Amino acid sequence: HRDFLDPFCNEYVLIGEEETSLGINYLQFEEEIRTFEIRDSDIIVASYPKAGTTWTQELVWLIGNDLDFKAAEEHLDKRFPHFELCTIVNFAKMTEMLGSTRPEYIGNSINYLRDLEGTRFIKTHLTYNLLPEQILNGNRKPKIIYVMRDPKDVCVSYYHHGRLIQGWRADFQNFSKVFLSEKIMFGSYWKHVLGYWEHRDKPNVLILTYEEMKKDLLSVIRKTAQFLDKKLNENKIPQLLKHLSFESMKNNRAVNQQDKIESRMKHKLVPEQGAFMRSGTSQNYKGEMSEELILKFDEWTKKSISGSSFVTEPIA
Ligand code: A3P
Repeated sequence: HRDFLDPFCNEYVLIGEEETSLGINYLQFEEEIRTFEIRDSDIIVASYPKAGTTWTQELVWLIGNDLDFKAAEEHLDKRFPHFELCTIVNFAKMTEMLGSTRPEYIGNSINYLRDLEGTRFIKTHLTYNLLPEQILNGNRKPKIIYVMRDPKDVCVSYYHHGRLIQGWRADFQNFSKVFLSEKIMFGSYWKHVLGYWEHRDKPNVLILTYEEMKKDLLSVIRKTAQFLDKKLNENKIPQLLKHLSFESMKNNRAVNQQDKIESRMKHKLVPEQGAFMRSGTSQNYKGEMSEELILKFDEWTKKSISGSSFVTEPIA
């Protein structure tokens, strides 16, 4: 088997036995994504997978909805649908395997978003250049919040995610090789980051890092509220900080993806047991990467960002 899929190269796919691989259909939806009608009121959280997307989504959603904790009990996937999700997984095959049907916000994410009224909260892992045309040509200016993270931690987190949810079966050594070779789902980490970084000075773009969220979540909350033109209810800030803590999110079924993990485990589709909210720390890679691999990553980063405007490392 070919081990991974890079949807942008349309190479193929996944790790594991034939029956567990869920094909990727990006090209099938390319036109729909390109021509998707964006609204200026849309709020988009964009990221490379495992950079802290879910955490950022929950933060942005709560600020955007005036800290309505009750409404946040609804599943995050429904409140904050993943735009191109329908391109990533072959849901017909998945439904057949899992014996259940998928709600539209998962199986037909583009249609679902098209029909939503009011402020739409949209998650995407697409690279900047693959966002809908109306964003690229500046005709629409939705708010875009991009979150990034040290790629060494992203790689480790991606590896576990792949085994836990996607059914990938590679060991870490092989996985990190593929990650560095950039032939992986959502492609090159640094191309992804730099694609958004170039737009960081636009008033509708905010770049956050996982590391600053870990160091000073309150500042990130305030910065994000200002960016979204939202006034925070100061009395509710302690509750917000608690809600966004790793421990709370780990135990919150609306955001912790436990439903997906349980269904994969029940059907023995994945080789790993564990939690989506796994370590929740910075520099977790130190426990999983050899010195040699760390050096390799740092060299790759240096090479990848050289010549770009990304001169400082906000992820340090
Ligand atoms: P780890 O696997 O390193 O623990 P994404 O949402 O982009 O898939 O990112 C998932 C990563 O964010 C996981 O990293 C997860 O544990 C971490 N994460 C999610 N919520 C968090 C929180 N409240 N605090 C710290 N880390 C969090």
